[in-house]
Amino acid sequence: MQAIIKDLKTTVSDTKATDIRAAFAADPNRFRRYSVSLDDLLMDFSKTAVNDEVMALLERLADEAGVSEKREAMLSGEAINFTEGRAVLHTALRNRSNTPVLVEGMDVMPSVNAVLAAMASFADGIRSGSLKGATGKPISDVVNIGIGGSDLGPVMATLALAPFHDGPRAHFVSNVDGAHIADTLKGLDAETTLFIIASKTFTTIETMTNAASARAFIAGRLGEDAVKHHFAAVSTALDKVAAFGIEQHRVFGFWDWVGGRYSIWSAIGLPLMIAIGPEDFGRFLDGAYAMDQHFREAPVRKNLPMLLGLIGFYHRNVLGYPSRAILPYDQRLSRFPAYLQQLDMESNGKGVTVDGTPVEGDSGPVVWGEPGTNGQHAFYQLIHQGTSIIPTEFMIAANGFEPHLRHQHELLIANCLAQSEALMKGRTREEAKAQLTSKGMDESKADLIAPHRVFPGNRPSITFVYDRLTPYALGRLIALYEHRVFVEGVLFRINSFDQWGVELGKELATGLLPVVQGKESAEGHDSSTQGLVKVLAGLKAR
Ligand code: F6P
Repeated sequence: MQAIIKDLKTTVSDTKATDIRAAFAADPNRFRRYSVSLDDLLMDFSKTAVNDEVMALLERLADEAGVSEKREAMLSGEAINFTEGRAVLHTALRNRSNTPVLVEGMDVMPSVNAVLAAMASFADGIRSGSLKGATGKPISDVVNIGIGGSDLGPVMATLALAPFHDGPRAHFVSNVDGAHIADTLKGLDAETTLFIIASKTFTTIETMTNAASARAFIAGRLGEDAVKHHFAAVSTALDKVAAFGIEQHRVFGFWDWVGGRYSIWSAIGLPLMIAIGPEDFGRFLDGAYAMDQHFREAPVRKNLPMLLGLIGFYHRNVLGYPSRAILPYDQRLSRFPAYLQQLDMESNGKGVTVDGTPVEGDSGPVVWGEPGTNGQHAFYQLIHQGTSIIPTEFMIAANGFEPHLRHQHELLIANCLAQSEALMKGRTREEAKAQLTSKGMDESKADLIAPHRVFPGNRPSITFVYDRLTPYALGRLIALYEHRVFVEGVLFRINSFDQWGVELGKELATGLLPVVQGKESAEGHDSSTQGLVKVLAGLKAR
């Protein structure tokens, strides 16, 4: 692989591949050659620094890394998450063909379908009002308590699918900061509130702490007996859920072969299903399934996740770009960048290869972003004129859900397209000067000002276009990014499916709690930690 990476670096400089502007000038068919579609979803990567030589080398790279073989290993249930001894089978959760998927010789599809059916029946009961609170009132508000993968997916998707939301109001509490649950509970009526405790392990301190506060809220207002009517749980640790006191028929399981950040398709999606209904949740799964099929079957040059992963790797390890910005021109995708942060950075933020040796080059980039057009008025300045090159990924629907605000949607599209064009084209010093003099500025002043109005251009972007943000389209988009992370992980030669890096902070926090509470001395901690504990204690005592 290192030899191909070296060849890529040589090719980039020999062919001046990073002069994207010149590539467009030279080839009127560039868009057609470097864009691919799956139904109404189009991925335009013509504004990245690729040419045919680069693409051929990237294809060879995928081959040499064994991406296709590893993809089959994942899809067929091999324990590819070897540091935890687990298969990686979020695709089984949306396997709409129902063909058997084997884990250690057992078909998982019957249990996947059984949980989906139980979720649908519970969701229907809550939505129709047949499942009521302890005092006989229907549920008006659902509060999901979870964090990380047990929160980000449901929050993101519930916001994204607001036009399909016809169930009870949805709320999400994740942070151990008591402000989060306190602000959420303000204004909620215990009699009509359902809490879903979502935790794969059912040990996560944030979730367990918030769950205890929620329990106290219900028990305090309605009595201990009411708890069973106002709680449900989603977990792989069914014994621990039982100990919390949630009745078995309100517990929805999943399996250790579903990673937290890949769990939106499992019972972790319950708050989404309650919000949009089982049918639309099914369409969400259908969309992901369509992407799975495409990922499995399409040749590399037509395969969206393959291409997205290859270009991501190229940006990181050939061109050396340390971050990428996710810029949905879709207000309802406002939490999509945060969702992708966990998906990508928790998966590919690793420094050790599958052999236990240090990663050669770099692994996953920093992933960040905000919806357009808001970001334009915040950080786009740096993307256009800053000294770092930040590849951007735009996404835009052809149609919104507000026909009466059509003009606003057109303005949104125009902004999205304008940004990718401006990033690619830039503006030369001569162009900047000519613009100034044409407005009547004298030559010497124009010479002074023009450099500040130069845009280097050649800044890479990928644009996704789709018809509209339906449950199907959202499912497809998430699955696209999941598989992209997989492809990049294979190219980085890492295990994308564990997350040991999160552990150290958790352990230390547990150890520091008695120190913060003043029950133990801070001795043994570093002097900064000791100093901070002392200052905080002093401020607390004032
Ligand atoms: O942050 C680490 C992590 O383990 C994530 O991978 C996971 O999504 C999150 O914590 C929540 O874990 P759980 O669902 O077990 O509460």
